[in-house]
Amino acid sequence: MPTSPNEAAPADRILIVDFGSQVTQLIARRVRESGVYAEIAPFNRVDAAFLAAFRPRALILSGGPASVTETGAPRADAAVFDAGLPVLGICYGQQLMVAHLGGRVEGGEHREFGRAYVTVVDDCALLHGVWQVGSREPVWMSHGDRVTALPPGFRAVAVSDGAPFAAIADDARRLYGLQFHPEVVHTPHGAQLLENFTHRVAGCGGGWTMAAFRTQAIARIRDQVGPGRVICGLSGGVDSSVAAVLLHEAIGDQLTCVFIDHGLLRAGEGSEVVGLFRDHYNIPLVHRDASALFLGRLAGIEDPERKRKIIGATFIDVFDEEAHNIGGADFLAQGTLYPDVIESVSVTGGPSVTIKSHHNVGGLPERMKLALVEPLRELFKDEVRALGRELGLPDRLVGRHPFPGPGLAVRILGEVSQERSDILRKADAIYLEEIRLAGLYDAIWQAFAVLLPVRTVGVMGDARTYEAAVALRAVTSTDGMTADSFPFDHGFLAHVAARIVNEVPGVNRVVYDITSKPPGTIEWE
Ligand code: XMP
Repeated sequence: MPTSPNEAAPADRILIVDFGSQVTQLIARRVRESGVYAEIAPFNRVDAAFLAAFRPRALILSGGPASVTETGAPRADAAVFDAGLPVLGICYGQQLMVAHLGGRVEGGEHREFGRAYVTVVDDCALLHGVWQVGSREPVWMSHGDRVTALPPGFRAVAVSDGAPFAAIADDARRLYGLQFHPEVVHTPHGAQLLENFTHRVAGCGGGWTMAAFRTQAIARIRDQVGPGRVICGLSGGVDSSVAAVLLHEAIGDQLTCVFIDHGLLRAGEGSEVVGLFRDHYNIPLVHRDASALFLGRLAGIEDPERKRKIIGATFIDVFDEEAHNIGGADFLAQGTLYPDVIESVSVTGGPSVTIKSHHNVGGLPERMKLALVEPLRELFKDEVRALGRELGLPDRLVGRHPFPGPGLAVRILGEVSQERSDILRKADAIYLEEIRLAGLYDAIWQAFAVLLPVRTVGVMGDARTYEAAVALRAVTSTDGMTADSFPFDHGFLAHVAARIVNEVPGVNRVVYDITSKPPGTIEWE
């Protein structure tokens, strides 16, 4: 968690003040897509000192679930409006700005949720060149309260049936407010409006590209690491692979990668990782086959959380051992991403529950007394992929579906054994091969097979069978937080099912999981 503003960020930067909206991260992504760096900070951290340290070019106030008409609702520090910076308030952010600057907000009988239309009634720097006066434009609304009187200096530039002040502007002070959400795709011109704000209003230049990031990140890594030695755990996934190649470009053989095969990888994954990193990139790589140790410790364990804990602890043991074998290190490199470090803001004060204890090597830095190098901690996943391409990593790796740290263990329901993991690996490989053949791989966030802890009766060649069932899962998602099942064609699923039952001994039934997240999760355990 960041405890101070990131002063090392690019000079052209936007600060997004978070009031707890579900889609605050989308604001940051849209701004970055316009070539401008943006960071998110919780509303209660942003004061004059924070702004002086971070030095943003402009501020965006996010939406949020609260109502400014209630006492105790989150407020922005006065410094946000006193700094003389351009400010764009979105939904709750607009209402807050209006209330703070002397206008009026009222609780709504005029609630608007979902698709709505605004009519453009005046031009301003925010709308200029995107929307013409008189046009009717589709937007995405989600509000109960609404602005009913503007503060001095403001005028309405767009209106909707439910909101007389759907878009407001004070060009002189460079203050703007939108009742609708420009950050979601359901507002078709939203990204252009945000680009107008960052470029036309705030004067940002648009130099945030992965080519620029690569150069800056290499300089920063060299600066941090000096002559030190860095160790990096490779999982075969996109994040650790991109981090490793970037680090190698920065510090060469001061980097050693450790790849631990827990015996729960997908088919061919181990040899792909070794082939790419050791043979292609010439990165010093320790490859440890620890499958017997992992499977031994997992024997007889059926509880999902216990499996996760055992794998996490064993991973740390093995990694520690290998680090000693190579003579120790000063730094541990991790592929931590921006969504992992954004401080979440709770405007209701409710505790969050642990759904699954995620596997990461979080215990390692303390145990091994290592400092962390996290060269990707400013990036979103799509930016990491773009950086990977920039670094010349093969598309097949850069576009790879996310794979959980505990591997196939969370997809083998019930006991994990060598035999059961072999069955799942075969079924999974057939499924993924067919998805690639059908040209669907890149349209899917994640696809995998799950081995169920039940046996079912079947008939093959006139004989009764009593064997395992496999579930297939494929989802679309933008961040793994919510997901929908992928709408495969029935014929495709029937073809995959037939291949699995015919080619994988021990499986006689295949089902397709059509649960969305929520209420389901993506993985089954
Ligand atoms: P769930 O199952 O919680 O998964 O909907 C959301 C995303 O997280 C991945 N996942 C993990 N990733 N370590 C990881 O690095 C883990 O322990 C872990 N468990 C789930 C999952 O594959 C999906 O992309």
